[in-house]
Amino acid sequence: MAIDQPTTRGHRVYLTRSVPEAGIALLASAGLTIRMNPLPRALTPDELCREVGRYDAVMCQATDRIDESVLEASRPRCRIFANCAVGYDNIDLAAAGRLGIVVTNTPDVLTEATADLTWALMLAAARRVGEAERLVRAGVWRGWNMLDFLGADVYGKTLGIVGAGRIGTAVARRARGFDMKLLYFARSDKPAMAALGAERRTLAEVMEESDFVSVHLSLTRDTRRLIDDRAIRRMKKDAIFINTSRGAIVDQGALATALAQGRIAAAGLDVYLNEPMIPAELMALENVVLLPHIGSATVSTRNRMAQTAAANVVSVLRGEGPLNPVGI
Ligand code: GLV
Repeated sequence: MAIDQPTTRGHRVYLTRSVPEAGIALLASAGLTIRMNPLPRALTPDELCREVGRYDAVMCQATDRIDESVLEASRPRCRIFANCAVGYDNIDLAAAGRLGIVVTNTPDVLTEATADLTWALMLAAARRVGEAERLVRAGVWRGWNMLDFLGADVYGKTLGIVGAGRIGTAVARRARGFDMKLLYFARSDKPAMAALGAERRTLAEVMEESDFVSVHLSLTRDTRRLIDDRAIRRMKKDAIFINTSRGAIVDQGALATALAQGRIAAAGLDVYLNEPMIPAELMALENVVLLPHIGSATVSTRNRMAQTAAANVVSVLRGEGPLNPVGI
């Protein structure tokens, strides 16, 4: 190694939870000393506070609440919190900025996997896949019946995308194969959406005109409960609601009521307000497909997320700056 080559030797990184080996290998190959929370759960902010001050970098996850107390406790040693997620609503960015701590995320690498899972939910909710599978597993299937499990068509319907960023656009791209009409709600015109033939609408119009509404927003002050009771009431009676972004963007109670009262046909959810808690009202419904926040859960995507977070750690500790900084 050249004498003046930036080095991470002697630096310590803390992993708040397990990550795929690919991320650990990258940290190890940079000469970092790695310590990992051995518990099979996320640590509380108090528990994190007791750890983070002894490290130069922290690799954290969407389930960790990195609030001001945790960031304060990490000073003066820690230089970066590398979130293994594209979303970073779990981190107090204002406090990080004030304390001069870098925050990074893992954009791009999980776009396609999350778009795939959005489609899995769309198809499952439309064709009542969860309900039908429950019947088969209960051992009470009596054979083919022309009137059983009649669902909704996906092909040729209207898909409304709320939030036309990377994932929303990837979901829209897949809709071309289903000959769907595309609408989207975003703060500005999105050329990539226009190129797919998608038309920009107000949120109210997307809710009113779509057969499928799929949410792809980051959770911010502006988007918290953006899909409220009023917005849900605008949906068609046979419409299907999908959320693979963040649960807090939706009024979960209002959604459960709309589903229970048959004011919308079905929903497919991968995210919830207070994960892993799913309210009993949602659990009791047959017309909602409930997944345990697995949007990015493919082997290669999770490897790449861990590698991206690790690469950010290494780059910052080498003094070369973050690769995927986020800030306000
Ligand atoms: C997962 O939810 C992520 O933000 O990557």
